[in-house]
Parts: sequence; C-alpha cells; structure tokens
Amino acid sequence: MLSKWVKVCATSELKKGEMLDFDYDDKKILLANINGKVYATDRICTHAEADLSTGILNEEGVTCPLHLSTFNLETGMPQNLPAEVPLKTYNVKIEQNEIYLEVE
Ligand code: FES
Repeated sequence: MLSKWVKVCATSELKKGEMLDFDYDDKKILLANINGKVYATDRICTHAEADLSTGILNEEGVTCPLHLSTFNLETGMPQNLPAEVPLKTYNVKIEQNEIYLEVE
C-alpha cells in the first residue's frame, strides 16, 4: 500500500509529557511526547477498546485508564496484562517545527 506523510501540528503544540488525539480517515491515532521524542500509535486499547489518550503517560509509555496495561510507544508492545496484542505504531518525522505522520 502507498503511504504518505500528513502534517499533524506544530511541535510547540505537543510538549514533553503531553498526548494528542489525531484522527485520519478511520484511524484513531495517539501522539505522545516522552522526553522530547514524539511517538505515534493507535489510540484504542487492544484489550477492551479504552481510549488511551485518557490514560497516563509516563517514561515507560502510556497506561490504559481501564485495566492499567502499559504500552511501550516505540514498539506498541503491552508491558503487562491484561492486554496482549501490540498497538500499531506509525513513523513520525519533524520538519521545520512541524510534526508529520506516515499513514497508508
Ligand atoms: S481496555 Fe486497556 S487494558 Fe483493558
């Protein structure tokens, strides 16, 4: 499938320790800034569909608000039960202080 880069927002709109919702077509995406690095994954928990943007962001990733699985945002892998299925991850690039996301 062909992929393309879409502009999400300015880097100043996603500060360290913050998360941002981004919807593209039918995709619900979560962007997060951990220590200045921006990550993007699907936003809906693979366990029981909680919205991870209402969870807690920490150094390890994002913790689901419903049953507290924490997902590593680099790999999408859950670090603890009950979630077992990884989140889809997206490539991110920063150009001229704008954040871009690679989507299909
Ligand atoms: S819905 Fe996220 S861990 Fe259950």
